[in-house]
Amino acid sequence: MPAVVVSGGGKAPEFEAKMTAYVFLCVIISAVGGLIFGYDIGISGGVTAMDDFLKKFFHEVYERKQHAHENNYCKYDNQFLQLFTSSLYLAALVASFLASIVCSKLGRRPTMQFASFFFLLGVALTTAANNIVILIFGRIFLGFGVGFGNQAVPLFLSEIAPAKLRGGLNICFQLMVTIGILIANLVNYFTSNVHPNGWRIALGGAAVPSVILGVGSLVICETPTSLIERNRVEEGKATLRKIRGVEDVEEEFESIVRACELARQVKDPYRKLMKPASRPPFVIGMLLQLFQQFTGINAIMFYAPVLFQTVGFGNDAALLSAVITGSINVLSTFVGIYLVDKTGRRILLLESAVHMFICQTIIGIILAKNLEITGSLGRVEALVVVICVLLFVMGFAWSWGPLGWLIPSETFPLETRTAGFAFAVSCNMFFTFLIAQAFLSMLCNMRSGIFFFFSSWILVMGLFAMFFVPETKGVPIDMMRDRVWKPHWFWKRFMLPEDDLHRDVDVEKIYD
Ligand code: BGC
Repeated sequence: MPAVVVSGGGKAPEFEAKMTAYVFLCVIISAVGGLIFGYDIGISGGVTAMDDFLKKFFHEVYERKQHAHENNYCKYDNQFLQLFTSSLYLAALVASFLASIVCSKLGRRPTMQFASFFFLLGVALTTAANNIVILIFGRIFLGFGVGFGNQAVPLFLSEIAPAKLRGGLNICFQLMVTIGILIANLVNYFTSNVHPNGWRIALGGAAVPSVILGVGSLVICETPTSLIERNRVEEGKATLRKIRGVEDVEEEFESIVRACELARQVKDPYRKLMKPASRPPFVIGMLLQLFQQFTGINAIMFYAPVLFQTVGFGNDAALLSAVITGSINVLSTFVGIYLVDKTGRRILLLESAVHMFICQTIIGIILAKNLEITGSLGRVEALVVVICVLLFVMGFAWSWGPLGWLIPSETFPLETRTAGFAFAVSCNMFFTFLIAQAFLSMLCNMRSGIFFFFSSWILVMGLFAMFFVPETKGVPIDMMRDRVWKPHWFWKRFMLPEDDLHRDVDVEKIYD
C-alpha cells in the first residue's frame, strides 16, 4: 500500500497520518456490515416476486398475480407481503438504540460481532422457514443485525480514518451496501429458476458475508477513541500509532483525550442531545435520513423487478433490469468516494438534488401520460423510464446515499456520538420501513403521482442542503463545534458560550 501522507496544509491543525495497509484491511472487513444490509435490501424484491415463495406464504397474492394484466399498478398490493419486507427495518429501528449502548460501553468491534451473530440467526430462520411466523421472526433477527451493523460500521470508519480521507473511507460502507444489492439482484435472477427452493438459496446467501464479518472482526482493531473513552489509554495510543503509520501521534491523541474527558462529564447523552448545542448535528442527522428515503430510492431498490414488470417488461427482463440498476449503483458510488474529500459534501448533495428531481419528474410525466390502468408503455417510453431510473440511481449513489451515513457519523461530538447516531440510524430505518410498507399501496392508489410526490421531497431536500448543511470536508472529527457550527450563519445561534467552559482539559492529568 503506497504511503499517502495526509498531514499539513489547511487553516487548522491537521494530524499527521498515512494511509496504512492495516487501516485499509479494517475498512474492507468492517464495511462487510454494509454488504449484508445491501443484500437484505436487494433480496426482498426478488424473493417476493418468486412464485414458489408466494405460493408457500402468500397464496392470495400468487392468485392475484395470475391475473396481473387486470391492473398495472396494483397487482402485488398486499399488507402481509409488505410486512415481510418491512419487518426487518422495524426491528433494526429498535435495535439501533440497544446497539448504541453496546457501542459505547463495549466498543465498536463487539457491536459488529453482535451484528454478525444476529445476522446468522436470522439467515438460519428465514432459510429454514416453513410458516410465516418463523419467516417474520427470521426477518426480525436480520433487522437486529442491520441495527447493530449500521450503528457500528459508519462510526468505526469515521473514527479510524484520517480526517482528510474520512469521506472516501466512510463511503466504503455505502459501496458495500451497493455491492450487496447487486449480488442480491444476481442471486435473485439465478435462483428464480430453481424450483421449488430457489428462494431459500436466495435468503441463505446472506450467511456468507455474516461469517466474513464475524471472523474478520477478530482481525480488526477497536477505534482509539473507543479505547480511550473506556480508560484503555495506553492501548488507545498504541492503536492510534498503528493505524496512522507514524510515530508522532501526540496532537491527535491529545484531541481524542480531550474529547473523551468532555464525554465523561456527560452522564446522560440522550439528555445532552436535547440541549441547544446538539441541535445542528441532531437535526441534520435526522433530516438527512428522511430526505434520503423520500427521494424514493427504496421504492426503486425493493421493487425494481416489480416496477420493471409494471412498465411492461417480462419476468426475466425485470430481473435483468434490476441487475443493470445495481451495477450503476455500485459504479457511481466510486464517483462519490473520489469526489467527497475533493469537492466536498455540499456540491454532491446540491448537484444530485437537481439531477434526481428532473429524473423523478420525467418518470412521473411519462407514466401519467402513457400508462393507462390496463395498458402498457410503448418501447420508447419504457426505455426513457428505464434511463431515468438509471440516471436517478446514479445521482443518489454519489450523494444522498453515502452522505446520509457519512455526515451523521462525523458531526456529533464524542459525548453524544453513539446516541445521536442511533437516532440517525433508527430514523433511516423508520423511513425505510414506511416506504417499504406503503410503497405498493401508494403505487396502487397514487399511480404515477407517486413520482411527483418523491420529486417534491427532492426539491425540499435540495433547499435544506443549500441553506443548512455546512461543509465538513477535512475537518477533524472532534473539531466540528469550533470549525463548523460556530461560524455557520444559522447554527451558530445554538453554540452558547457556557458550553465552552469545560473545553480546557488538562491532558497530562488524564494521561497519568
Ligand atoms: C440507503 C438504503 C438504500 C441504498 C441504495 C443506502 O444509503 O440507506 O436505504 O437502499 O442506499 O444504494
